[in-house]
Amino acid sequence: MSEPTTNLINGLPADCKIPAHVAIIMDGNGRWAEQRGLNRIEGHFEGRKAARRVVEACGELGIPVLSLYAFSVQNWQRPGPEVEGLIGLIETALREELDALVTNDVRFIASGRRAELPESLRRILDEVEEDTADNQGLILNLLVNYGGRTEIIDAARALAQEVAAGDISPADIDEQLFAEHLYAPELPDPDLIIRPGGEMRLSNFLLWEIAYAELVVMPVLWPDFTAAHLIAAIKEYNTRQRRFGRVPASDDQ
Ligand code: IPE
Ligand code: IPE
Ligand code: MG
Repeated sequence: MSEPTTNLINGLPADCKIPAHVAIIMDGNGRWAEQRGLNRIEGHFEGRKAARRVVEACGELGIPVLSLYAFSVQNWQRPGPEVEGLIGLIETALREELDALVTNDVRFIASGRRAELPESLRRILDEVEEDTADNQGLILNLLVNYGGRTEIIDAARALAQEVAAGDISPADIDEQLFAEHLYAPELPDPDLIIRPGGEMRLSNFLLWEIAYAELVVMPVLWPDFTAAHLIAAIKEYNTRQRRFGRVPASDDQ
């Protein structure tokens, strides 16, 4: 799974730049279900299959890091049965996928406020992280009870504690030190954000980390998302000129 040797890669031009970190806002499950007269939770069940497809595709393409937004701190405001269904689904999916993640050399990490999650979910998050810690293939970062602002607040609190303890001074706080206090400091910033479901917004997703990410919004609803959509997003990413605030590089420089 981690070897980029299969057919999928053939869908991309040879000189294609593969993003080091792809981050996906898995949106549109509810609409997918409603369009079929189903309960919203059925859309989430179908969305789980899309997540599996994309994890496999990222492994095949040799993408180093994939972040998947599974449950935001704002999502607790949904009706109780939907929240319970989603939290239960995340737990079940992790239990059922653990062996496949180990076999396929995926290293799993979870980002978010873990203390507020049910104990059984916390336990499986810890277990999957521990059991895949030595894997060398795709890094899968699952965002559960995650909020971009919450992450920044948690980093600010940790830094404030270090200042209060006299370990650092306020003047020591720069972008690098701040970023070291985020949930997954070992990951590179995302290069490519994909939002299926068509909404042109970020919904509190990785606010610090995506300062210079390229955003691709796609109309496809998440349960219908396939490897072909991932390929299309990577192709679109390859048409973008990333400048990071500079002027474009010219031939004579
Ligand atoms: C995304 O699908 C899944 C979560 C937010 C957990 P939605 O449930 O938001 O689907 P839509 O946007 O209502 O279609
Ligand atoms: C973002 O989708 C959260 C996840 C995909 C987990 P939402 O459906 O919650 O975002 P809004 O409400 O449309 O902004
Ligand atoms: Mg939504």
